Amino acid sequence: MRKVRTAVFPVAGRGTRFLPATKASPKEMLPVVDKPLIQYAVEEAVAAGVEKLVFVTGSTKRAIEDHFDVDAELERALEQPSKAELLKTVRSIVPSNVSCIYLRQGTPLGLGHAVLCARSVVGDEPFFVHLADDLIYSDVPVLQQMAQHYQAHGVSVLGVETVPADQTQSYGIVAVDKQSNGVNAVTQIVEKPAPEVAPSNLGVVGRYVLTPRIFEILAETGEGAGGEIQLTDGIAKLLSHEAVHAFPFVGKRYDCGSKLGYLRATVEYGMRHPELGDSFRAYLKSVGDD
Ligand code: UTP
Repeated sequence: MRKVRTAVFPVAGRGTRFLPATKASPKEMLPVVDKPLIQYAVEEAVAAGVEKLVFVTGSTKRAIEDHFDVDAELERALEQPSKAELLKTVRSIVPSNVSCIYLRQGTPLGLGHAVLCARSVVGDEPFFVHLADDLIYSDVPVLQQMAQHYQAHGVSVLGVETVPADQTQSYGIVAVDKQSNGVNAVTQIVEKPAPEVAPSNLGVVGRYVLTPRIFEILAETGEGAGGEIQLTDGIAKLLSHEAVHAFPFVGKRYDCGSKLGYLRATVEYGMRHPELGDSFRAYLKSVGDD
């Protein structure tokens, strides 16, 4: 089975749910404690063995390029004994064996279109798609869990979790055939169905392993829900050519594209933080005391 070497990060969305914070700076640069969302995403992909990071960017996204680029001036300023740890932190954002490629999605025509933009740099290989605003806390990084599943089965894999029945219209929803070997074979996928027509309450979240066949299909996929070219519609067509598996990953997800989800992530990552955790938990206990 071919190794998954490339991760695609679609970061060209407008982030309207997070306005005005996202008016001039990307949603993916919102920090959770001390790292921007996109850095958590990159670390997860690197932990899964990825060597090529492909960012599909749009307007107002230059900060992402700057974040992963070398900042010689900053590094010079940190070259003193008391700043050695900070210098190491700044230099280790992207390991030296990993390359970053930036592509532009001129108009945000939808997630399916953003993925299609990466076709020429991904080539004829399986690849990850990672949506940085779905932050997932786990012992084994979720892309690594999914890479293992891909190695065992060689088919596209969708990260899924059970979502509240009244929230199906916020997700791509799958119906699955549970097989005796523990595999959940996808039999149907629908973008944002209303609860009364949803085929289940298994929602697709922002982690995918996709086979390159998806590119041919997306190239012929027209507008779907919300007038956008939907990745979900492409996957629905992929199902008539190849098997696709739903993968209930192990981990806790935070929807950082929504304000409440972002606040939850900030509080819980703060509580777990190795340096800040103790004092932050003590602070939380004291909130409302005065
Ligand atoms: P969302 O549905 O979260 O849309 O996109 P959004 O524009 O980022 O945010 P809201 O809903 O307006 O608040 C899911 C992912 O797909 C990317 C987004 O950057 C996000 O990571 N995306 C979406 C693109 O890269 N291009 C698009 O045309 C649409």
